[in-house]
Amino acid sequence: MSVRGKNGGSGMAPGGKTKKSMKALVLSGGKGTRLRPITHTGAKQLVPIANRPILAYVLDNIARAGIRDVGIIISPETGGEIRDTIGDGSGMGLSITYLLQDAPKGLAHAVAVGRDFLGDSPFVMYLGDNLIGCGIENFIETFEGARSDAVILLKPVDNPSSFGVAEVDASGKITGLEEKPKAPKSNLALVGVYVFSSAIHGAISEIKPSERGELEITDAIRRLITSGKPVHSHIVDTWWLDTGKKDDLLAANTVVLDEWFTRRIEGDVDDLSRVTGRVTVEKGATIRNSVLRGPMAIAAGSVIEDSFIGPFTSIGAGTKIKKSIIEHSVILAGAEISHIDRLEDSLIGRGAKVVKCHDRHEALRLMIGDDSVVEV
Ligand code: G1P
Repeated sequence: MSVRGKNGGSGMAPGGKTKKSMKALVLSGGKGTRLRPITHTGAKQLVPIANRPILAYVLDNIARAGIRDVGIIISPETGGEIRDTIGDGSGMGLSITYLLQDAPKGLAHAVAVGRDFLGDSPFVMYLGDNLIGCGIENFIETFEGARSDAVILLKPVDNPSSFGVAEVDASGKITGLEEKPKAPKSNLALVGVYVFSSAIHGAISEIKPSERGELEITDAIRRLITSGKPVHSHIVDTWWLDTGKKDDLLAANTVVLDEWFTRRIEGDVDDLSRVTGRVTVEKGATIRNSVLRGPMAIAAGSVIEDSFIGPFTSIGAGTKIKKSIIEHSVILAGAEISHIDRLEDSLIGRGAKVVKCHDRHEALRLMIGDDSVVEV
């Protein structure tokens, strides 16, 4: 792994202390409808950013905060794939317990599923498809320092109606919360990272399903506020990417390659090829007569021939690229791209094929699902 800086993932808090009492609950259920067809066959939390699943960055962040016990909420549809990819967490210094949520009945329902695992410990709840550009240590300190029952991570956004939205007083206390309001009272969106004391369980037991039929965590937090419990906020001052959609995913790929990747060439690059900038070529990748311009990442088992791969591109494992120009794109594992004059701003699914048959010279912008074949 060539990720550097904040998400290095050592399993210890700064100073080497493990936070024994704090647990984490990572929500990785759901069916990934927002990124269909890419996640039609897979979990949205496993969509790779710079060739690593989003969930791996989430777990890095939890490990770095010194938390060891992690419960991952999974769904029947995608749970097996998540378990196979992430494993028991021992390689990251984590102890992972998988908890099955039988249907997507809401974030508060997921906490109820994790009730026995969590016991009376305080815990970080982290939505498994979100990527933030900072660690969560400060955020946990806010929780401990303020003796709070909840701390909610917030970020000012341009489109608050798409999110949970908080109202905050001058001291940072949350005074109001609404889920996807039509007329938002602030521009502060809930990022999807929360710290709770065990008081949240009582609040969840008192709420009813919302209009969309889900037990909403925002309703449970509102219940804490109305019963006089302290609920604080913490504003994220770095980037936050909610990676559910194609453009978000390309943006996340760009930022992660740009901020966290170093140069590392371990694959087989021939003398006819030119590699400039922060380029990762993993062991087992083969580069022939090609130009690679970073920041970019090429995973193991890929073969790149007679091609130009430009900045902000991630090429997944076992991909074959021949006589093509590709920039600012995410190519998932096992895809094949051949004789394409220019492919940009694109997301290509696992095992998909993009091959040229006709003599056209236009840039292509594509989102192609797993195992598709496109002839242009
Ligand atoms: C969920 C939460 C919402 C939060 C958002 C962040 O919404 O309900 O409060 O702002 O995650 O991504 P969802 O994305 O599940 O619709």
